[in-house]
Amino acid sequence: AITRHYKFNVELKNVTRLCHTKTLVSVNGQFPGPRIVAREGDRLLIKVVNHVQHNISIHWHGIRQLRSGWADGPAYITQCPIQTGQSYIYNFTIVGQRGTLWWHAHISWLRSTLYGPIIILPKRGIPYPFAKPYKEVPIVFGEWFKSDTEAIINQALQTGGGPNVSDAYTFNGLPGPLYNCSAKDAFKLKVKSGKTYLLRLVNSALNDDLFFSIANHTLTVVEVDAVYVKPFETETLVITPGQTTNVLLETKPHYPSATFFMTARPYVTGLGTFDNSTVAGILEYEKPLNFIHSGNSIKKLPLFKPILPPLNDTNFVTNFVNKLRSLGSAQFPANVPQNVDKRFFFTVGLGTSPCPRNQTCQGPNGTMFEASINNISFVMPTTALLQAHFTGQSNGVYVPDFPTSPLIPFNYTGNPPNNTMVSSGTKLVVLPFNTSVELIMQDTSILGAENHPLHLHGYNFFVVGQGFGNFDPNKDPAKFNLVDPIERNTVGVPSGGWVAIRFLADNPGVWFMHCHLEVHTSWGLKTAWLVLDGKLPNQKLLPPPADLPKC
Ligand code: C2O
Repeated sequence: AITRHYKFNVELKNVTRLCHTKTLVSVNGQFPGPRIVAREGDRLLIKVVNHVQHNISIHWHGIRQLRSGWADGPAYITQCPIQTGQSYIYNFTIVGQRGTLWWHAHISWLRSTLYGPIIILPKRGIPYPFAKPYKEVPIVFGEWFKSDTEAIINQALQTGGGPNVSDAYTFNGLPGPLYNCSAKDAFKLKVKSGKTYLLRLVNSALNDDLFFSIANHTLTVVEVDAVYVKPFETETLVITPGQTTNVLLETKPHYPSATFFMTARPYVTGLGTFDNSTVAGILEYEKPLNFIHSGNSIKKLPLFKPILPPLNDTNFVTNFVNKLRSLGSAQFPANVPQNVDKRFFFTVGLGTSPCPRNQTCQGPNGTMFEASINNISFVMPTTALLQAHFTGQSNGVYVPDFPTSPLIPFNYTGNPPNNTMVSSGTKLVVLPFNTSVELIMQDTSILGAENHPLHLHGYNFFVVGQGFGNFDPNKDPAKFNLVDPIERNTVGVPSGGWVAIRFLADNPGVWFMHCHLEVHTSWGLKTAWLVLDGKLPNQKLLPPPADLPKC
């Protein structure tokens, strides 16, 4: 294992897409941002220097950050943001993880342009549990907004309404030929015939789950969220914001005279904000393809486009996620907690709050949109929770009394209750070290059932069960998979249903949990777990680094 150094200069850059130039926040003038490559066991020192007028903070999504919570990155949770002209070195070691993860800004909506892949190779000499690929290709799915996303979310929050939707989806920052004025801005994957490629897919879109497919090619899913899975084949996959999926693509043995599109477009439930458009990239076999010379005339050869499921195809999504199983081999076991110390039941969904006097609000019936867990819309503190905890100065910053279940139970997936108003606060869940946790997350149909990709920082969890309707504590647990459930860091709570996860709280610190649909995070669908130190020296959070930013 070695130490790898990276430098991230956060600076402005002009980028043109869809015939429109905008100034965006970038890392090192690159859009999308640079990729980080490391091996399992390596230590990373990433110096982030802020040269822009925004406060900045960077999160290493999916990295477990064992005892190194100071390097996790969500602003006001584990650190104060890096202010203009200042810098901070993120210092962490990759323990027990290999695969694809990603990094992104974790403050306001700046992750719309500040993101890039993290590629974690296995330790030297340890092969993949699948055929060695000829080449590896990261493809980061994104969402492109012609206008400034900070203005979009600020306006939505001020008027209580929904934010404007994006203008395109992208592969590695490129919308592709199905959009006006975008023919040249297409992601192109040039391949040789008869080879195996490992595609490292990341969904960094702000607000949309995405379907993805490559015309006339089968994909073999081998890893999600940096955890190996039992391989399975599929034509199409679905991926929520925050998730990563590695697939093997086998190219055809003889180069075909055709052009193949790869496309992605949203999976939408509930009030989902989406732009009804499709990003396309091009799979191109080496040697000329789409033209052959026959005599004097040039004949155009076929263009194949994949057929993606309908926008609201929940059946497809359910079938797909049911296929995901941990590899669970001797070398890569699935360490599912078999016993539970503490059970939690969280409702996740939308709600409303009253419109302030002298204001008109764009939310339902003149209210403001909110989102909540157990009816509590989380209020961001103005100083970092982890610092407040570590220094023992939590008074006035947070209250450790997040409810373990809804205060007033209702028929979550039936008719919404008359009162859809949320309450608010900076409430944390406290867990003693090594608590074995079971958490049921139940979607509510208040303002419409919706798929919510819930992400937990600092942990992987096992998805032991899921279903539709209201979770039944008497019947459903008997069906839990405690043998080879998928292990991941972000899970879609099914629209109109529930999901059950388990994890062992073996990483002390303050760990954010939120819906990875950015608009829902902004509306308050978030909370944080405070995991206390254990008794042994190696069970304690490390002390904060000297350059930790101040608020
Ligand atoms: Cu990918 Cu809290 O984020």
